[in-house]
Amino acid sequence: MSFLACRVTNENDQVTHNLVEMNVDDLTEGDVVIKVHYSSVNYKDALGATGRGKILKTFPLNAGIDLAGEVVSSESDDLKPGQLVLVNGCGIGEQFDGGLAQMARVKREFVIPMPEGLDARRAMALGTAGFTAALALHRMQENNQTKEKGPIVVTGASGGVGSLAVNLLSSQGYEVIAVSGRKEYYDFLKQLGANEVVSIDDLNLGGKPLEKGRFGGVIDNVGGELLAKLIAHTNLWGNIASIGLADSHKLDTTVFPFILRGVSILGVSSTNCPMPLRTEIWNRLGGDLKLNALDSIITDEVPLKDVSPVFTDILDRKRYGRVVINCQ
Ligand SMILES: NC(=O)c1ccc[n+]([C@@H]2O[C@H](COP(=O)([O-])OP(=O)(O)OC[C@H]3O[C@@H](n4cnc5c(N)ncnc54)[C@H](OP(=O)(O)O)[C@@H]3O)[C@@H](O)[C@H]2O)c1
Repeated sequence: MSFLACRVTNENDQVTHNLVEMNVDDLTEGDVVIKVHYSSVNYKDALGATGRGKILKTFPLNAGIDLAGEVVSSESDDLKPGQLVLVNGCGIGEQFDGGLAQMARVKREFVIPMPEGLDARRAMALGTAGFTAALALHRMQENNQTKEKGPIVVTGASGGVGSLAVNLLSSQGYEVIAVSGRKEYYDFLKQLGANEVVSIDDLNLGGKPLEKGRFGGVIDNVGGELLAKLIAHTNLWGNIASIGLADSHKLDTTVFPFILRGVSILGVSSTNCPMPLRTEIWNRLGGDLKLNALDSIITDEVPLKDVSPVFTDILDRKRYGRVVINCQ
């Protein structure tokens, strides 16, 4: 039986995507077939599907770095037909066919049974963005990020990872400073629990290697000059989780914050997070890390057939919060 998929092709270095009809046998190999209920559009999906970033390692390939749906068939006894599951990262949408399709086929080791407290739509409202925000907080807390160290700055705050990070931190009782370039979303970010919402200019950051300590830590989606300045303003033993590069992949800093204040910069890589930790974090997202404003962060639900304009919208900064894709 054929199904619809958003398939990315590369002909003579021209990367593009189209909705195509496929059969399960055409998909990259795997031992679990999943009827995809929901996927989402992350910044990485937008880069990959439009070719603005070199994300896909092979072509043609179905886009989508995350999915949630129901098992249709499984070669593994511990997954039963009809069971709800999710997959994020692990190379789907990069080297294996991804979630922006009505059906997917993946390796058993990528599959996470749907955590209690989540369903397919809520799981994809979180998606890779929510998983990554939670992984960032997990790494910071493992490195003793207490509330007493001071407020946590979230950059790129109105985006997917940013808005989820704001609500996650606030739900956990941290003081949050949301940094956003778009004044029209300040109220939205306050509703998610930001104590302060500011522009980069409002932050009035200095450019010296070590500046006055003002922040307990940072969840950074932006990179570049902003990240470098925030590192210099981080309090004693604070943690900076480096997630994204929405402005720049560059980082021009000095060792002073690290050797004089014990500041740590923590890498966050959702794609290759080890499976036991990935499963633990997803289970926590349905439990003690549950967000109290997830519904407000879902700013649109788009049918799979209309996914294409969402890619360019995200890259052109015309979206906020999270867009879930209804694949059926
Ligand atoms: N490490 C990982 O595993 C991982 C996982 C997921 C995402 N990421 C990365 O994290 C970043 C955010 O992803 P996302 O899915 O949340 O994307 P998104 O929804 O497009 O959000 C990105 C946000 O960054 C801000 N921004 C965009 N361009 C900017 C610029 N030139 N300068 C400063 N700020 C800018 C905007 O927020 P405001 O308008 O509010 O300023 C935008 O909403 C991306 O770089 C993505 O590749 C990494």
